Amino acid sequence: MKGVILAGGLGTRLHPLTRITNKHLLPVFDRPMIYYPLQALINAGIHDILLVTGGNNAGDFLKLLGNGRDFGLQHLNYTYQEGEGGIAAALGLAEHFVDNDPVCVILGDNLIEGNFRAAAERFIRRGAGAQILLKRVPDPERFGVPAFEGRKIIGIEEKPRRPKSQYAVTGIYMYDAKVFDVIRTLKPSRRGELEITDVNNWYLRRGELDYGQLRGWWTDAGTFDALHRAGNLVARTGANKLDAPTRPARPARPARKR
Ligand code: DAU
Repeated sequence: MKGVILAGGLGTRLHPLTRITNKHLLPVFDRPMIYYPLQALINAGIHDILLVTGGNNAGDFLKLLGNGRDFGLQHLNYTYQEGEGGIAAALGLAEHFVDNDPVCVILGDNLIEGNFRAAAERFIRRGAGAQILLKRVPDPERFGVPAFEGRKIIGIEEKPRRPKSQYAVTGIYMYDAKVFDVIRTLKPSRRGELEITDVNNWYLRRGELDYGQLRGWWTDAGTFDALHRAGNLVARTGANKLDAPTRPARPARPARKR
C-alpha cells in the first residue's frame, strides 16, 4: 500500500505562528510536527510515501527530511499544492504516485500514541473500498462525526453543530484507487474546499466504507489548544510508541540440519 501525507494548506488557525513557516514544521515537544505522521505510516508498514505540501516554506521539508534516511527510508516523494483547495484536493495530486494501488492517507497535523498496522493489513486483505479510523473525543463538533444505527455508520457530518455521536473521524484514511474518480466528482463545500468527508460518504452510500477504532491517544495539532495538547501528550507518554517493527518481519530461516 502506498502512503500519502497531506501537509498543504495555509494553517491560518495558527497565525501568527504560520505567517513565516509551514504549520507542519512547527515543533511538537521535541520534533517537528511532520515527523509524527511520517513515523506513523512507517510503523504501519508503509514505506512508499508521498508528501504533499504547500503554502510557506515548502522547500524546508526537503532540507528537513531529504530522502527519509533518518526514518530508514531509501526515498521520499514530494509534490506541491497551490492554495488551500481542501484535503480531498490535496489527495487528488497523488493520483500518478498511487497508480492504482491501495493508498493510506494521513493528515500532517495528526499524531497518535499507537500503531495502526493491524488496520492497514486488514484493509490490504480486503483489497477494495475505504476504511476510516475513529476515536472517541470530548469535542466531536471540531471534526468529521459519524452517525450510527447500532454499530453501522449511516452518515458522516463535517463539524456538525449537534454531533450525532461522540466519535471523531481521525485523519487516517485508506482507499482503493477509485478514490481519484470520486474526487473528480466533488463540489467545493461552504468553506470552499473539497471535503474528505464527502469522499467517505460516497463510499458509505455504496456500502464500501469500513471502520476501526484507534487505540491509545489521538490528537490533531491545528489550533493553539490542540498544538499545546499534542506537545503535552508527547512529553508525557511519547507518540508512536507502541511500535511494531518498522520493516516486515523476515521469514524465519529453516533450521540447519546437523
Ligand atoms: O483531524 C481530523 C479532521 O481533519 C477530520 O475529522 C475532519 O473530517 C477533516 O475535515 C479535517 O478537519 P480540519 O478542519 O481540522 O482539517 P484542516 O483544514 O485543519 O486540515 C488538516 C490537514 O490537512 C492539514 O494539516 C494539512 C492537510 N490539508 C488541508 C487543507 C485544507 C492539505 O494538505 N491541503 C488543504 O488544502
